[in-house]
Amino acid sequence: MHSVKIGVLGLGTVGSGTVNVLGRNIKEITRRAGRDIEITRAADRDLESPKKCNTEGIALTDDAMDIVNDPDIQIVVELIGGTGIARELVLKAIENGKHVVTANKALIANYGNELFEKAQQKGVTIAFEAAVAGGIPIIKAMREGLAANRIEWLAGIINGTGNFILTEMRDKGRDFAEVLTEAQALGYAEADPTFDVEGIDAAHKLTIMASIAFGIPLQFDKCYTEGISKIAQDDVKYASELGYRIKHLGLARKTPEGVELRVHPTLIPHRRLLANVDGVMNAVLVKGDAVGPTLYYGAGAGSDATASAVIADIIDIVRALTTDPENRVPHLAFQPGTLADTPILPMSEVVTSYYLRILTEDKLGVLADITRILSENGVSIEAILQKEPEQQDGMVPLIMLTHEVVEKNMDTAISQIEALSTVKDSIMRIRMESLG
Ligand code: HSE
Repeated sequence: MHSVKIGVLGLGTVGSGTVNVLGRNIKEITRRAGRDIEITRAADRDLESPKKCNTEGIALTDDAMDIVNDPDIQIVVELIGGTGIARELVLKAIENGKHVVTANKALIANYGNELFEKAQQKGVTIAFEAAVAGGIPIIKAMREGLAANRIEWLAGIINGTGNFILTEMRDKGRDFAEVLTEAQALGYAEADPTFDVEGIDAAHKLTIMASIAFGIPLQFDKCYTEGISKIAQDDVKYASELGYRIKHLGLARKTPEGVELRVHPTLIPHRRLLANVDGVMNAVLVKGDAVGPTLYYGAGAGSDATASAVIADIIDIVRALTTDPENRVPHLAFQPGTLADTPILPMSEVVTSYYLRILTEDKLGVLADITRILSENGVSIEAILQKEPEQQDGMVPLIMLTHEVVEKNMDTAISQIEALSTVKDSIMRIRMESLG
C-alpha cells in the first residue's frame, strides 16, 4: 500500500516539532497507524533562515497554495495560524478533498461552523486537537472518552503565558511586564501577547471545548473575556491570606437557563488541584454526570508537545481513511444535525461569588455604608479583611469575599459603592469559584 503523503504548511515552532517527532518516532507511529506516513512537502514563507528540523527528503516551497493544490497530498497540516491566509488555505484544501489537521484555535473558534459544514459536504475531516491546550489530548478525552456523560461544567487553565505570569507574581513578587517579556522569550506567548494576557487565546480554546462538551455551535463572539493585566500584587497577596489563589480560568457551565462561557481571573481555594497548576503548564477539569470530576494536565504549548497532538490527529485520520465519512467521530462530538440552540448567558445573568478590594477612608460609618449597599442588592458577605493604612493619605484597603449572587446585582452594588465620597478609585472585583 502507498504511504499517506502529508503536506505541512508552516515550519515554525509547531511545524518543526511535527517533522522532528514524526521522524524520531516513525516506527512506532507506523505500527499504530497501520500505514506508512510521509511528510513529502512543506511550505514556509522564509526558506532562507535555517529550520529547527531536518528537512531532508521534504520538498520545500514558499507557496503554501501549491501544496494545497497538489493531488498527491492527502492530508494538509495547517500550522500558519491566524484567520487570514490560513483560512483560505484550509477552505481550498477541503474543496480539493483533502483532510486537514490544524493547531489554529482562532480559525476553529471563529470559522469552525462554516469549515465543518464544508468538510462534511466533501467527506473530509478537520482535526484540531493541537488547537486546545497543546499536547493535552482534551478534545479526544471529551469527544470520545467522556461520550457517555452529560458534561455539567469544565474549567481550565488554558493559557500558559498568563499562568506563568500569575505564578511568578505570586511566588517571586515579580512585576507583570517583566514576567511577560520572559514568557515571550520562552516562545510561549502569541505573536500578539495581548491575546494571552487579555484572555482572547483562552477564549478561543474555551469556545471550542464548550461546543464539544455541550453539543452547541461555536460562538466565540458570545464568550465573556477579561484579562489579567489589572491584577495587582496586592490582590495576589490578599487572596493568599484568605486561602485562595488567583488563576486565569476559562469556565463553561450548563445551567437550566443556558450556557455560561467566560474567561476571567478567578479566586480558587488553594487546596484545589487546579490552584496548584503553576508556570506555563495547562490543566482542564471536566465534570461529567457519570464519571464525576476528571483532570487533564500537561504542556499547553511548545514545539514537541504540540506536535504530539498534531501527529495523533494525523494517525487518527490515516486509520479512518477507508471508513465512511458518516461513521467518523463528529467534529463537535455530537452529530452535525443535532447541535442544540441552548443560549449563551450574558455575563449579567451569571451567578458567582466575588472578591472585592475597596480603597476607602478610614472613618466612622464607611463600613456601614458599604454593607448597607451590598445588603440592599442581595449581596451577602462571607468574609471581611481590613488592612492597616498603607498610604500617607490614610486610605485603607477593605477586602471582602461574598456569597453567590447574580452578576447584575453585583454590578449595581459596585457602582453605588464607587459613588460614595469616602471610596477612592474603582473597586477591584475578581470572581470566585469553589470548583467543588
Ligand atoms: N500562547 C499560548 C499559551 C500558546 O501561552 O498558552 C498555546 O496556545
